[in-house]
Amino acid sequence: MRLRFIIAIDGPAGAGKSTVARRLAARLGYRFLDTGALYRTVTLAALRAGLDPDDEERVAALAESVSVVLEPGDDGVRALLDGEDVSSEIRGSAVTTAVSTVAALPRVRAAMIPLQRAIAAERGVVAEGRDIGTVVFPDADVKFYLDADPAVRAGRRAAERGDADVQQVEAEIVARDRQDSGRAVAPLRAAEDAVRLDTTDLSIDDVVERLVAAVEG
Ligand code: DC
Repeated sequence: MRLRFIIAIDGPAGAGKSTVARRLAARLGYRFLDTGALYRTVTLAALRAGLDPDDEERVAALAESVSVVLEPGDDGVRALLDGEDVSSEIRGSAVTTAVSTVAALPRVRAAMIPLQRAIAAERGVVAEGRDIGTVVFPDADVKFYLDADPAVRAGRRAAERGDADVQQVEAEIVARDRQDSGRAVAPLRAAEDAVRLDTTDLSIDDVVERLVAAVEG
């Protein structure tokens, strides 16, 4: 499969990946690929089926049998589970709490890889996630690793959700980071050849400009 131009953006929750990846994709005329939405959609399917998110056998069998489709949408991406638009539901707290557990299951990760590569065979992509530059697209043309202080990341997530309890959000994202970085398969880490950027004191515009400069440079 011949892949098109690929920009990989990895990093923890709240580092700015989604917003920046969406803007960069629009600017370059590439497709925005939100890989977290794939894991979130599988997690929703598992919760709806009443499965324990830790039950690799059953959750993976479900991941292999349901249809998970990402389409470009008004707000970046539309996630379809067996044809149903679940874009809002996958951002809810039930899915957000369980998704790191589901994303740690090796068979689920294996099932998501061909979906991601098939999208990148169609046209250029800006793909964001946790293992894009390390596992999914190790030969990506440009790789970025975005990070920021946990308190700043929590503030951004809380603002997005209209959630006043920033401390609670910080505790959640720190727990999720630990789970995503500590898992055996495809843990969150920067690829050796990634351009690292700390976005703590940068605006979204600043980050986008730096990434455009690195891509065009
Ligand atoms: O980026 P996000 O918050 O939507 O990601 C949801 C979860 O999915 C996150 O806890 C880590 C996991 N994930 C992953 O393991 N690998 C990816 N490529 C993308 C997300």
